[in-house]
Amino acid sequence: MMETLDLFGLPAQDPRQDLGPAAVVLRGFALPYVEEVVPAIDVIAARSPFRHMVTPGGFTMSVALTNCGELGWASDRRGYRYTRIDPSTNEPWPSMPESFSRLAYEAAKAAGFENFRPDACLINRYLPGTRLSLHQDKNERDYAAPIVSVSLGMRATFLFGGEERSDPTTKVPLQHGDVVVWGGEDRLRYHGVMPLKDEPHPLLGSQRINFTFRKAG
Ligand code: SIN
Ligand code: FE2
Repeated sequence: MMETLDLFGLPAQDPRQDLGPAAVVLRGFALPYVEEVVPAIDVIAARSPFRHMVTPGGFTMSVALTNCGELGWASDRRGYRYTRIDPSTNEPWPSMPESFSRLAYEAAKAAGFENFRPDACLINRYLPGTRLSLHQDKNERDYAAPIVSVSLGMRATFLFGGEERSDPTTKVPLQHGDVVVWGGEDRLRYHGVMPLKDEPHPLLGSQRINFTFRKAG
């Protein structure tokens, strides 16, 4: 097969990269939404600030997080769960902006999952050195809906493994605007993020923001 070259004679990036039968990377899918979604992050964080949660094992997570939507993901010494109330403000989580729901719906659809209506959006903030260890997303009630994960800001290496923690992982470089969707038979695959390098991004500086949309309740 002949390789496609871009303007600069470099191999053009495939807009879709399959990670499994029901898992795909959609390169740059979120770029048309950036102007709407990036300013909304500050509005959400002004109400429900980014914070470092403690795991049931007693470790403080290196990633800082907040949520928007009816349900928000939270962790403390008692376990992981979804809550309607932000435990740090005692107020409901900020509602999910329409642009967020639209992005999640369209990305899921492009990946083959019709009618995705997320009720939770976990917003992770990575600074240089931040990592996320391998885990499964399994606190949601129904595994029929996919996970839609949006990358903004600094690039990162996403690790996509199998159904056992010890399974080999694929290293997936993710850039500003990339979206990963996994569901169906790939829904419970382990995944994580390698420690970030400090390569400031023109729009977001020395941080990476990741949204993961879920149907949690
Ligand atoms: C997550 O698994 O919650 C986040 C994944 C990512 O930051 O790419
Ligand atoms: Fe996850």
